[in-house]
Amino acid sequence: MPEPAGAEDWMPRRLAARRAVITGAGAGIGRAIARRFAAEGARVLVADIDSGEAESVARELGPPALAHAVDVSREESVAAMIGRAVDEWQGLDVLVNNAGIGIAANTPDTGIEDWRRVLDVCLTGTFFGMKHAIPLLRAGGGGAIINMSSVAAIVGVADRAAYCAAKGGILALTRAAAVDHAGEGIRVNCIAPGTVDTPWIERITRGYDDPAAARAAMEARQPHGRLVSPEEIAAMAAYLASDEAASVIGAAMVVDGGMTAR
Ligand SMILES: NC(=O)c1ccc[n+]([C@@H]2O[C@H](COP(=O)([O-])OP(=O)(O)OC[C@H]3O[C@@H](n4cnc5c(N)ncnc54)[C@H](O)[C@@H]3O)[C@@H](O)[C@H]2O)c1
Repeated sequence: MPEPAGAEDWMPRRLAARRAVITGAGAGIGRAIARRFAAEGARVLVADIDSGEAESVARELGPPALAHAVDVSREESVAAMIGRAVDEWQGLDVLVNNAGIGIAANTPDTGIEDWRRVLDVCLTGTFFGMKHAIPLLRAGGGGAIINMSSVAAIVGVADRAAYCAAKGGILALTRAAAVDHAGEGIRVNCIAPGTVDTPWIERITRGYDDPAAARAAMEARQPHGRLVSPEEIAAMAAYLASDEAASVIGAAMVVDGGMTAR
């Protein structure tokens, strides 16, 4: 059998034959998670609102990876995504609710449409994913859900009011679902990344007069003096998805280069 795409000799194969749906997998952190899961042997549904990016990631990974277009803020779209996993694989083992967006504004400057869009994609999208995946995981005897929170759930980040609220909501919802479903063999956890080197951060720094200085400031606020790599978040996601994390339930795994340790 050929080596899975992206597999390195040192990587374990903890996810052999696991069926995993990953949202926002067309870019950044989600793409790194799709690569790592595939490298560890998982069958991956690369789900993204940008179908072209989803297809390009699925193509790069090769079979059995599949691309799927989803808007996580729409319940019928999320239901169809989970339905696709059932059609293709007759079940599901892992859901990664990673898709997210942000806007830059403090509380009074946040317009209601921006507020709703950030909450709809980040928090309600995570809720829809869990709502539709949990019955399926339960029917299959258990599984793992990994939600993408942020350090913005733990400390205040300037000019990110809606984003902080959404990511704090994800952390609270993760804990609520974890206690509700641990007895059914479903482990729900979240990851709280610091600043991760993705297209998102590139877009933010491009908006500054001096993008290099903006990036340097982001690097400096993390005690290890650099941005976190998407692969470092993917390594945490793979651990949480694996049986090695069997007793990790309702946790917020902080991967932030020490940012919240200050
Ligand atoms: N980059 C960071 O510093 C950082 C830090 C903490 C948390 N996060 C979180 O990690 C996740 C991924 O961030 P990233 O930096 O990789 O972002 P990114 O913008 O580079 O990639 C996000 C992906 O999500 C997709 N997406 C956006 N809206 C969607 C929707 N409604 N439905 C489906 N897909 C959608 C985009 O098309 C894109 O492919 C987000 O939830 C983000 O909040 C990022």
